[in-house]
Formats: sequence, C-alpha cells, structure tokens
Amino acid sequence: MSGPDREPGWPTGELEQLAIDLAAEAGALILARPPELGVAATKSSPTDVVTVMDRRSETLLRDRIAAARPDDAVLGEEEADTPGSSGLTWVIDPIDGTVNYLYDIGAYAVSVAVCTGDPRVPGAWETVAAAVFNPVTGEMFHARAGGGAWLRRGDGAPARLQVRDSTDLSAALVGTGFGYRPQVRQRQGEVLARVLPQVRDIRRAGSAALDLCSVAAGRLDGYYESGLNPWDMAGGVLLVTEAGGAVLGADGGPAGTALTVAAGPRLAPALAACVQA
Ligand code: IPD
Ligand code: CA
Repeated sequence: MSGPDREPGWPTGELEQLAIDLAAEAGALILARPPELGVAATKSSPTDVVTVMDRRSETLLRDRIAAARPDDAVLGEEEADTPGSSGLTWVIDPIDGTVNYLYDIGAYAVSVAVCTGDPRVPGAWETVAAAVFNPVTGEMFHARAGGGAWLRRGDGAPARLQVRDSTDLSAALVGTGFGYRPQVRQRQGEVLARVLPQVRDIRRAGSAALDLCSVAAGRLDGYYESGLNPWDMAGGVLLVTEAGGAVLGADGGPAGTALTVAAGPRLAPALAACVQA
C-alpha cells in the first residue's frame, strides 16, 4: 500500500488492507475450482445466473468480515443484508462478471468496498476503501479515500493509477455494459446506437467493476452503464475518483442505478450528455 491516510475518523489504511486481503482470498477460492461447479440459480432473467462459486465466494467474504469487523454492516449481491452499528457497510460483489466466469473468459473480479452512509441511495454514501481483484490476471486494484488509486500485479510493487486526460469524445474509447432483462436491453441498445457513431469505439468487457478500474488505469477513456447495483460499482468508483476521474449520474445528479458515467474530468460531462441526449 502507498500514500498517506488523509481521511480522519476511519482507519482507512487498515480497511484498505483488509479489502485487499479479502478480495485476494476470495479470488484464490474462485480460481481453485473453475466453472464446472456450474449454475445454482437464476435471478432477474433466465440469463442472470448465480453460480455455486458466487455463493461460496460471498460466504467466505461474509465470514471474514464478521470475524474482523463484527460491528460493520454487509450488503452483498447474493445474500440478505447484514445490519451493523459502526456506520460502515461492506459492499461486496463475490464475482463481478459471472457470465465471463461461466464461459471461462478471464474478465471477472471480486469487488470489496467499505462505505459510509447508505449504499442503496444514490448520493448518500461514500466509499472509504476498496479492492477489486481479477484472479485470472492477478491484478489487484485498490484505493482508500485521499490515498490515490493503485494497481499491484502479483507480488510486484503497486503502481499509481491516473485517468486519461481526454477531451475529445470522438476519439474516446468507451466501455459500457448491459443488464439481463430484455426490456432494459432494448433501451440500452437504443442508447448504444446513438453513442457508437460519436466515439472512437465501444468495449463491452462484462464486468462493471473492472470497467471502472479500466477507466482509472487509462485503459478506457470513459464508461457508462444504466442499471448498476451498489455492489457492481462501490469499489470501482473510488478507483476512478482517486485516479483523478469524475463519476456522474443522470441529469447532473449522483451516480446510481439510473446512470453511472465515469471518465477523466474534462470528458465526463460530454460523455454524460451524449448518453442522455
Ligand atoms: C454484471 C456485470 C456486467 C454489467 C451488469 C452487471 P454480474 O454483474 O458487471 O458487466 O453489465 O450490469 O449486472 O451479474 O456479473 O455480477
Ligand atoms: Ca456484479
């Protein structure tokens, strides 16, 4: 880890290290038994799957959080909310990019974020520390509020991340993603048809958490998606802002389920306007 603790009140350095440790342990669990364990259930549509490993990864994360931080709340993708009394909530996605995992495409991640406020209400929460770990590439993205955004590969030293200072939407490489329900996709397809001719190109990697980390790392100029849940974005948004980027929502409001737009500060308003035109 690197950078000073500038957030008074919370032990942000310790929280960041715990997020890193948790994401690494869950990532190792996921890699140890690749996807043949298969699908356990479906959620919002028949293509919105939960694998056995989604559940095992979330159980491991919850067990570790309960042991290390018993007063904190937990909001996770696959299990019921755990209330807390400390004012902190761990927002966890046990496998973000589950469809990639199912098809053995190496673009999925464990996202572990710890937030103040209410992570279900747009604008009412802040991530104080986070780790997003891709177990296939061994890339650990991590950040704490005021401490910068960092990428560690394997056992190497962390490298500080910086968003691209892009200004020209027509030259921007833009990531996006789609929900699982056909009616939602219909609308997302219409937005995409409008955005595509106005940008350099589009990428759909299949993990919102990694898309946000790609913006932080300068691998994308920007990213937008509607329909995200708190666990998809709580970790990645801190990476973007700590890498100098901006995260916007619909109609100039805070990022949330309606819309999340992330980019360098000079490109973000233009990208937000473009996807809402
Ligand atoms: C999904 C991924 C995907 C995004 C979807 C998410 P899951 O999360 O992040 O990239 O487009 O909106 O639901 O289901 O793989 O955890
Ligand atoms: Ca997810």
